[in-house]
Order: sequence, then C-alpha cells, then structure tokens
Amino acid sequence: MTEDKKFVSPEELARQKVFSGRILRENSAAAADSGTVRRYWVDCYGCQQNEADAEVLRGQLREMGYAPAGCAEDADVVLINTCAVREHAESRELGNIGALVHVKRRRPGMVIGVCGCMTQQAHMAEKLKKSFPYVDLVFGTHALWRLPELLWHALHDGRRVFDTENADGRIAEGLPVERRDRERAGVSIMYGCNNFCTYCIVPYVRGRERSRDPEQILAEVRGLVADGCRDITLLGQNVNSYGSDRPDGIRFPELLRRIDSIDGDFIVRFMTSHPKDASHELFDTIAESRHLARSIHLPVQCGSDRILRLMNRRYTVAQYVSLIDYARERIPGLVVTSDIIVGFPGETEEDFEGTLDLVRRVRYDSLFTFLYSPRTGTPAAGMPDPATHEEKQARFDRLLALQNRISQEIHDGYVGRTLELRLDGESRAAGYPFSARTSGGRLVHVRAPEDAAGKVVRVTIERASTYALFGSADGEEKV
Ligand code: SAH
Ligand code: SF4
Ligand code: F3S
Repeated sequence: MTEDKKFVSPEELARQKVFSGRILRENSAAAADSGTVRRYWVDCYGCQQNEADAEVLRGQLREMGYAPAGCAEDADVVLINTCAVREHAESRELGNIGALVHVKRRRPGMVIGVCGCMTQQAHMAEKLKKSFPYVDLVFGTHALWRLPELLWHALHDGRRVFDTENADGRIAEGLPVERRDRERAGVSIMYGCNNFCTYCIVPYVRGRERSRDPEQILAEVRGLVADGCRDITLLGQNVNSYGSDRPDGIRFPELLRRIDSIDGDFIVRFMTSHPKDASHELFDTIAESRHLARSIHLPVQCGSDRILRLMNRRYTVAQYVSLIDYARERIPGLVVTSDIIVGFPGETEEDFEGTLDLVRRVRYDSLFTFLYSPRTGTPAAGMPDPATHEEKQARFDRLLALQNRISQEIHDGYVGRTLELRLDGESRAAGYPFSARTSGGRLVHVRAPEDAAGKVVRVTIERASTYALFGSADGEEKV
C-alpha cells in the first residue's frame, strides 16, 4: 500500500462530519421540541483493540448529540461491537443480539447495530442478515469511521444497512474518542496483522498491518499525560513490527524511546508482542526506560516445535526461552505473562508435555489459557483433529493446575515485602477497600485509610492467593 492510500483522506472524513452534523441537528431539535434526550448504548466483547474501537464509536455518537444510556433498553441506538477470536465469544454475542428482539419490539424506533470483527466474516454477515431481521445496521472493522453516514441511512432510508466489505484496511486519524477512564487509556499504534497464524481469524477480519504516524501517537500520549492519565497501554496485534510499513524507518523500540522521553508521572505498557519480532533492543529499551512497565506479555501458544510450525508462529521453543532469559537478565524482576492454546489440531500427549515443560521452565507470573476453537476459513480448521473434547479439557485442566501452583509460589514470595503502590482502584475483597497494580501489573488488594485514595503509599504484603496479593499501607504517605 502506498503511504497516502493507507489513510482515510481529509475529504472523506469531512464528508462524515456532514452526516454527523445532520444527526446532531435532529437530536438537538428533538430535545428542544419534546425534551427527549436521545441516548446510545455500546457493548463490546473483545480485546483491548475492540474496546479502543468502542471508545471511538461512543465518541462519534456523542458528537452526533447522543447521551449515554444506562442500559440497552433505554437507548435509541444500540451498537454491539463483536469479537470473532473464539466460538465462545461469538455464541455469547449472538445470544445477546438475540435478546434484543424484545427490546426492539417495545421500541420499534430504535436502531440496533452490530459491528466489529465477527461481522467482517461473510458467513456471519449473512447469518445476521437472515436470522436477525431486527438488526438495522451491520458494519465491519473497516467501516468504523463511517458510522455517521451509515447511521444516517439506517435512520432515514427505511431499509437495513450493511457495510462489511473485505479490505486491507486504512487508518482514520482524528476521530472523536469517548474515554471511559481518566487514569488508564489504550492508544492504538497500529492496526491489522500480517502473521496469519493458522488458527487465527484476526488477519482476516482486521486487514493488513498499518502503523500510525509516530507524531500522531506522541501527540496523543502527551495529551493523555497532560489530562492526568497515569497508565497507558500501546495497542496492536503485533506491536513489535510497528513501523515496518512506514517510509521513515522508525521501529518499535525507537517509538518507545520517544514516548519515554515525555516527562510526567505515568507508566507505559504495550500489547501484544509477537516473539518472532521481539528483539534484544526491545528489552534493552525497557531496561533503560523511565516509564515502561517492567512486564512483558509474550504469547508462546505452545511448547512443541512441531505444533509451532503447524501454527506458523516462526520461532522455536529454544529461541523463545533464550529471549526470556535475555529479558530477565536485562530487567530484574520482570513480570512475564503469556497465552497458550491447548488442543491445536493433532496435538499429541508428547506435544502437550512440551508445553508443560516450557511452563515449568519459564515460570510465568500468569497465563491466559485457551482451548483451541476452529475458525471458519483458517488453515487449522481443515487440519485433522483426532483428540476428543474430553482429552483436550483434561490437558487444559492439567495446565491450569500447574500454572496456579506456580502463580501461588511466586505470590508467596512477596509476603513480608514492602512495595510502593498508587491506590488507584477499588477492591471488592472484604476488608481491603483499595486495589493497586505493581509496576509489573500484579493485582494488590490494599487496606488503607479512606483518604489514601489515589495516593502512592508503602504497602506491606501480608498474604497471597493465586491471583492477587493482599497488604496494608503503613500510613507513611509518599506523594
Ligand atoms: N495478536 C496477539 C493475540 C491475539 S488473539 C498475538 O499474536 O499474541 C489473543 C489470543 O487468543 C492468542 O494469543 C491466542 O492464544 C488465542 N487465540 C487466537 N485464536 C484462537 C483460536 N482459534 N482458538 C483458541 N485460542 C485462540
Ligand atoms: Fe492472530 Fe497470530 Fe496475528 Fe496474533 S499474530 S493476531 S495470533 S495471526
Ligand atoms: Fe477479537 Fe477482533 Fe480483538 S477478533 S480478539 S476483537 S481483534
């Protein structure tokens, strides 16, 4: 893709503003005439990129004069932003879209829209068309920036609107964003994926890798920091290949260094890192940085070279382990997390033992484990898969038990230590009103006086569970 073809043009964006302005005028007139405030509801089901998209959808709806609703039942426009990564996500989404039929019956004037990754698959768009006649608007990830125009047609043309064209995808800059949380924010640095891991639907529904202009990213981060944001996550399916499509030769470690040079009190995380593109330079950059979290999410997927090849992951177990060894040497105390898929087609007991060995060797701080879910149109969906669901589930349970034991052991090692933490969350654990995260992202439930909210305090860890640490502030305030 040439550079200018990668971006949605200013003219195209201006055209959307025309539709946005028209809807705004209608909504303002309705409010002036009858005092009815029109409202929106956006639900999302996917990864952090999906949530970042939802913030753009909310931002656009706000700009069109809609106010947030308390639930889908009270909304004039409902958007369901879907995920397609596993069957479980899709069935949940379809169930919830199904439940909206009753809402629509009560309020026929409302607009129900379904968008995001699921709709970007032809068979799912077809299913929505045929089996969910009360869904008025269906648009894919590539049409996100065109919401004003699509909504205008859904409101005025008396017909259903579909825009799920398959495309490489482009970058739309400057769209309005409605951020949910002032202290934490996600910033997309790139979109799409070129890796085509054989099990994964993402490259088909998100298009090709395209990196944002570093100046736009830096301006966004500076703005967030100036607004008091303290925890920023840079988002992309494969952040380590950031810049490979850009003419200026910038790469991910350089982007990190530029972000790190911004002054202020904030932490920067990023996800997701693909091991094939994670370089020593990346870990050197973290080690030498001021703002980068001492943590890395580095999905390994499995511990068998044979399966890694079938998955098209393009690294070996040995290469992965040596990368982790280097990272830990450079960054003492580094928190390491990963994703693992259990039950990839043809996975044998021996392959699975390889995964257990790898987990014992790396001793992850925590793991996201998934049962393989066949995705229509991916190469893995056509591979022979003789193992039964019960066999796969039994392996899954063994992996979980191993990881729980490791997490508990690592957490037990914290008991008695004192950490400096910002009390920026609320905890639901009885007796611990606050929650905080260590710089590696570990959850800590904290007992502290009420007025300690938002402050940095010294917390002594008293006990630990598999998932979290528990401690008390020692009363001496740091900031
Ligand atoms: N781009 C990221 C991950 C995106 S999806 C990366 O490459 O790491 C998040 C996780 O979902 C993946 O890491 C993988 O573990 C899991 N996943 C993806 N497709 C899956 C499938 N078909 N079945 C089960 N898990 C899957
Ligand atoms: Fe999917 Fe692989 Fe791309 Fe991650 S890197 S989004 S797992 S294809
Ligand atoms: Fe799901 Fe799409 Fe994210 S498939 S995991 S919402 S990129």
